[in-house]
Amino acid sequence: MRVDADSPKGRASTGVQGLDRMLGGGFFQGDAVLVAGSPGTGKTTLGLHFTAAGVEADEPTVYVTFEYLPQQIYRDANAKGWDLKSWEEDGKVRLLCTTPDMVLAESGAKAGILEDAIRAVGAKRLVIDSMTHFEFLGMENHEMRTQLSGLMNRLRLLGVTTVITHEIAEIVGPAVRISEWGLEFLVDTVILLRYVELEGELVKACNVLKFRGGDHDRRYRRVELGATGMSIEADFAGIEDITRGSARRTVQERARGLI
Ligand SMILES: Nc1ncnc2c1ncn2[C@@H]1O[C@H](COP(=O)(O)OP(=O)(O)OP(=O)(O)O)[C@@H](O)[C@H]1O
Ligand SMILES: [Mg+2]
Repeated sequence: MRVDADSPKGRASTGVQGLDRMLGGGFFQGDAVLVAGSPGTGKTTLGLHFTAAGVEADEPTVYVTFEYLPQQIYRDANAKGWDLKSWEEDGKVRLLCTTPDMVLAESGAKAGILEDAIRAVGAKRLVIDSMTHFEFLGMENHEMRTQLSGLMNRLRLLGVTTVITHEIAEIVGPAVRISEWGLEFLVDTVILLRYVELEGELVKACNVLKFRGGDHDRRYRRVELGATGMSIEADFAGIEDITRGSARRTVQERARGLI
């Protein structure tokens, strides 16, 4: 789905119309956003939508990935109709396939690869997919939190709107642990993507868990992933206990089905 480049002043379109609506127009420019989600819930797809919206809004994006080789990400983006390679050639996107230690390496007067890339394309947006790879650095939790807090602050100073993704191990159930490092406290906004088991089927759901400085839709909404990417529209009206692990239609809804 393509969205208008025109977002309200001070907002950065997420690239997904339904999510923009949940947020009253998009992320706040310059904020750090965590997209936390179970496997396959659309974290990377949302990162690509956000990148595509940046191209439309004339806001270049640095896209950092630890998971993919460039060819893989070009292919996955192409499948959704996004020509990442030509955006790169036009200087609208800079793809950085790197390692977490390289991202954390910048300190003192010496700018690292991330800051260099941001300055090189005049990036207004940044995607890091995914923070889960920082686990492989084997740092103590408090040390990692200090490092990530420093990184978030550097990004705020650079003025980029940042989307970082992180995996949630739980597939369904009431309790979700977002991160060992308190990432959810270091960022301004948290978008939760998770599964809801609905009468024997796993469906994907999105919730805006936190949105510093703005009002937002507090409902869970259904996430659809398809050939053109992500769409977020319907809520779970008429369904009860959606986060408990096995949601059911309310008594009223079931009764309605019998009439
Ligand atoms: N053409 C399509 N039609 C239907 N569903 C699709 C299509 N393309 C992708 N998907 C869905 O999108 C999911 C993958 O999306 P994405 O890679 O964005 O998720 P992710 O949260 O980043 O996954 P991971 O946890 O592996 O990083 C697939 O599991 C599939 O359910
Ligand atoms: Mg992914």
